[in-house]
Amino acid sequence: MNTAGLEQLAREAANFVDLQWTLVIRALQTVAPLAQGRLLDVGCGEKPYLNIFLPHVTQYVGVEHEASFKETQSSTRGLGPDVLYDGKRLPFADGEFDTVLSVQTLEHTPEPQALIREMARVLHPRGRLLLTAPFSFRLHEEPHDYFRYSPHGLRALCAEAGLVVERCNPLGHFWSLLGHKLNSYLALRVGRAGGLAQRLNKLGHEGKQRARPRYWALPFVAVGMTTVSVAAKVLDRVAPDESESLGYLIVARHRG
Ligand SMILES: C[S@@+](CC[C@H](N)C(=O)[O-])C[C@H]1O[C@@H](n2cnc3c(N)ncnc32)[C@H](O)[C@@H]1O
Repeated sequence: MNTAGLEQLAREAANFVDLQWTLVIRALQTVAPLAQGRLLDVGCGEKPYLNIFLPHVTQYVGVEHEASFKETQSSTRGLGPDVLYDGKRLPFADGEFDTVLSVQTLEHTPEPQALIREMARVLHPRGRLLLTAPFSFRLHEEPHDYFRYSPHGLRALCAEAGLVVERCNPLGHFWSLLGHKLNSYLALRVGRAGGLAQRLNKLGHEGKQRARPRYWALPFVAVGMTTVSVAAKVLDRVAPDESESLGYLIVARHRG
């Protein structure tokens, strides 16, 4: 197998043990058929979800907060935004997009209500907002890491912006949350594998990970993380506890 093949294999293994990634991807795949027309991805980063939505939309536009994007970007291997702005007013007309997508971005603005209001403004009256936000996640992209969200908080933010939440799905339950925290500790603290993950195009917006990997520990870390991931996925099914989740996906539309 050549280097590119090995890298692809390593990326797939890393994605498998990354419970948050698995859950976000699965949640987005479930709602992707609701997307249509022109789609705006707010806080698109490197557009990692482009291929999930492209079959359903006519255009995929990514917008980013210029300062925050440039400050936190640690990978340039993705696609990147089409439009940069100052984080205040989205540079688009009212109702210009049939779908507004925003994935794990709402925690990074100090003014989440203003950002939801902007998303509602650029959303067509019959369009849909598809948004995920974390309920529990370690600090990241510091200092631009401001909030975590419950389903009730997301509903309240939407209501103030004239939107109603049609659907709210948890991103995993208690065991996935616990498993993700354990795996983050194993990967980042025990194995110091943050830099390696960034070479695989993961942790793309967490600032440059500079710690030297503990290569001797990585085989143990890999076995530990795989065991934790499998156990978490099984336990979330057989002993679900919905009082905890990594985050939530909401689907919202304009009221009335
Ligand atoms: C955790 S990253 C998520 C990137 C991408 N959505 C993903 O899932 O890979 C959060 C992104 O939100 C962006 N961001 C922060 N505040 C923003 C704002 N007011 N408007 C748009 N993007 C913003 C940051 O620059 C960063 O790229």
